[in-house]
Amino acid sequence: MERGNHPQPTVFVIFGAGGDLTWRKLVPALHNLYLDGHLPEHLAVLGVDSKALGEEKFREHLREGVDQFSRRGKTKKKEWDEFASRLSYLGGDFAEPQTGEALADRLQTFDQEWDIEANRIFYLAIPPALVETVAGQLAKLGLCKDCRRDRLVVEKPFGHDLASARALDRTLTGMFAESQIYRIDHYLGKETVQNLLAFRFANALFEPIWDRRYIDQVQITVAETVGVGHRASYYEHAGALRDMVQNHLLQILCLIAMESPVSFAADEIRNKKVDVLRAIHPIRPEKVHNFAVRGQYGKGRLGDREIPGYRQEEGVALRSSTETFAALRLFIDNWRWQGVPFYLRTGKRLAAKVSQVSILFRPVPHQSFPATAVENWQPNRLVIRIQPEEGITLRIQAKQPGTRMVLGPVDMQFCYRDAFRTTTPEAYETLLLDVMRGDATLFMRADQVETAWSVIAPVLETWESVPPADFPDYRPDSWGPETADALLTQDGRNWFAPVLSEKDGEDENP
Ligand code: BG6
Repeated sequence: MERGNHPQPTVFVIFGAGGDLTWRKLVPALHNLYLDGHLPEHLAVLGVDSKALGEEKFREHLREGVDQFSRRGKTKKKEWDEFASRLSYLGGDFAEPQTGEALADRLQTFDQEWDIEANRIFYLAIPPALVETVAGQLAKLGLCKDCRRDRLVVEKPFGHDLASARALDRTLTGMFAESQIYRIDHYLGKETVQNLLAFRFANALFEPIWDRRYIDQVQITVAETVGVGHRASYYEHAGALRDMVQNHLLQILCLIAMESPVSFAADEIRNKKVDVLRAIHPIRPEKVHNFAVRGQYGKGRLGDREIPGYRQEEGVALRSSTETFAALRLFIDNWRWQGVPFYLRTGKRLAAKVSQVSILFRPVPHQSFPATAVENWQPNRLVIRIQPEEGITLRIQAKQPGTRMVLGPVDMQFCYRDAFRTTTPEAYETLLLDVMRGDATLFMRADQVETAWSVIAPVLETWESVPPADFPDYRPDSWGPETADALLTQDGRNWFAPVLSEKDGEDENP
């Protein structure tokens, strides 16, 4: 993470400081940044929450989270104590004016102690319904006025659909300038997702063949083994399409499909990405079934464990029609990609935790080898593994050892862990540091979010108006419902089974 400069003095205010995100992700990330020497000398992390936690309890609770979730493992006392001296807590309901006044006082105290005007980051780790209230209170306190110092970080989901995202944008941009708003999509902070830019635009090898003349299809798989867990109250209203496709999968698609940027300026990259979203061929409502498939996991076994179906999970309606699996078949209407299908799929309780992009190249234009040589021949395939085992595999054809000319596939591997022998920062580390530096390259601009909503809007609307007839329709530990296969077989294609480790080969799903 070398981008940008060392951050200026900062007060990092977390709303929802008693919640899960702060515990599992934000504070472990800040702690790692601190240990890696990326944070400014003048740094304060101020947690705000309505829970009645004292400062000591708050710190203890955060330490447990760091012990459990940090990539470094358990904290060391001395290191933790140093870091914890920067953590403080403000209890109170932010809808009440006195909490706001107390916050403003604390911010002033830091400035006075440090004798400097510190930057102020307001991180909204709160349920979407509270975003406008908290932002409104900040605006009333005048804590949005200084474009240089005041920044607002908003977690997904950003709106529930196109109309609500637009309304939220209107409200927030009525108080904060667009350049002060950082909409987080944590996938953009993942090392391998960022590496897509390096791979494509720092190597002369691939760009000349990165188009419809050489590429047959692109598949993006983001699969999880976990179920909905304790998040039913959110997930029941979201589903896989809103939770994963509208943001993470479409962002990956943008990085694969975008044109080369003229520079690495935040808006240049974001312009190129939004061009891709705008070029996605609109799905007509009456054709949704040809372009989108949904599914929901039923009950089953995982090893010797009984796994409840989605409808049996805590907080889920008995006849819930929320999808836990979504697959899309998208086309991009431009010169580079006309006619090349982009297949996207994501789901919970699938056979493996894996996120990867497979790019299948077209067959060679003329096969000069004898038929006996090419029985095992396969077109080239590039697999970009986002997680786990981050890396890139390029499948090429080689002559098999022996006296006869027989071709077969072999893989060229790049594995992050082996090549760099260092642990990669967590996505949140990269993103939090970028906010502190004021670098918005990896954050979503309002037009990106809104265009992404309009891409999936016809699917959302159709699915909402026609309840699924066959839920639950896939087993845990599978690759989703059978209907997902039909989405590709209509094009004479199949899903590739993801490469689960660099040693694995891959083939079409059985
Ligand atoms: C979140 C979704 O954005 O991403 C979760 O809300 C999902 O439902 C998570 O589990 C997956 O992230 P990762 O980094 O574990 O692939």
